[in-house]
Amino acid sequence: MTDTTLNHIAFIMDGNGRWAKARGLSRSDGHKEGAKNLKKVLEACQKRGIHYVTLYAFSTENWSRPEPEVHLLMTLFRQYLSEAIKEFKPQNDVCFHFIGDRTRFTSDIQERMAKLESLCSGKENYHLTVCLSYSGRDEMKRAVQKMMQDAIDGKIKPSDVTEDVISSYLDTAGLPDPDLMIRTSGEQRLSNFLLWQLAYSEFYFPMVHWPEFSEKDLDEAIEAYKTRDRRFGKVK
Ligand code: IPE
Ligand code: IPE
Ligand code: MG
Repeated sequence: MTDTTLNHIAFIMDGNGRWAKARGLSRSDGHKEGAKNLKKVLEACQKRGIHYVTLYAFSTENWSRPEPEVHLLMTLFRQYLSEAIKEFKPQNDVCFHFIGDRTRFTSDIQERMAKLESLCSGKENYHLTVCLSYSGRDEMKRAVQKMMQDAIDGKIKPSDVTEDVISSYLDTAGLPDPDLMIRTSGEQRLSNFLLWQLAYSEFYFPMVHWPEFSEKDLDEAIEAYKTRDRRFGKVK
């Protein structure tokens, strides 16, 4: 049967720089506008009953961008996290998760992430996962390191390793796989995003840049998703 239940959308929020360039603005302006738009998109997803949203906000590879751009992004993360802590309301029913190698961030950013996660009781209906200093290969590397340590400690043996066990070692342990992956700006690649988890997700590549991705664009993506025939390798 075609399964068009839409429970989880993963976004690669791409195109902030191009959006700014097209308007004669700086890349920083593009990132600021992208951060503003994020709030709108999240509200729109919640209104449409999407229970899980995952955002690619900063990749492992993005650390190699020019220092002033990385610095600006860190300032934006700090602001965004502080605002989210201040505005957190249990009645909004959202639980935050941060995945990636958070040890690369300064301690104040790490503390803000931990604070936001601690506000989650675990009973929430909506889950927002933010990928920061994240890449799929780095996540797998860290997962294998943990598993090997557990093997040395006698907690796991080779015959215990199943696909579910591998999933449980990943940063996304406990979260469902995305149904739909949307990458704005027209680039048709994963750029190291959720390599394990996107195995059977549907992909959608709108031409708009992230700062201008609107509710209408979201609805178009959802409509396109509904027409897909998710076969999971089976025959109908
Ligand atoms: C996405 O926009 C934001 C991050 C990667 C942090 P870009 O900064 O990649 O924008 P483009 O792709 O250069 O337009
Ligand atoms: C992917 O976008 C990372 C994020 C959106 C956070 P990039 O702009 O870094 O990817 P490439 O360089 O175009 O592959
Ligand atoms: Mg980009």
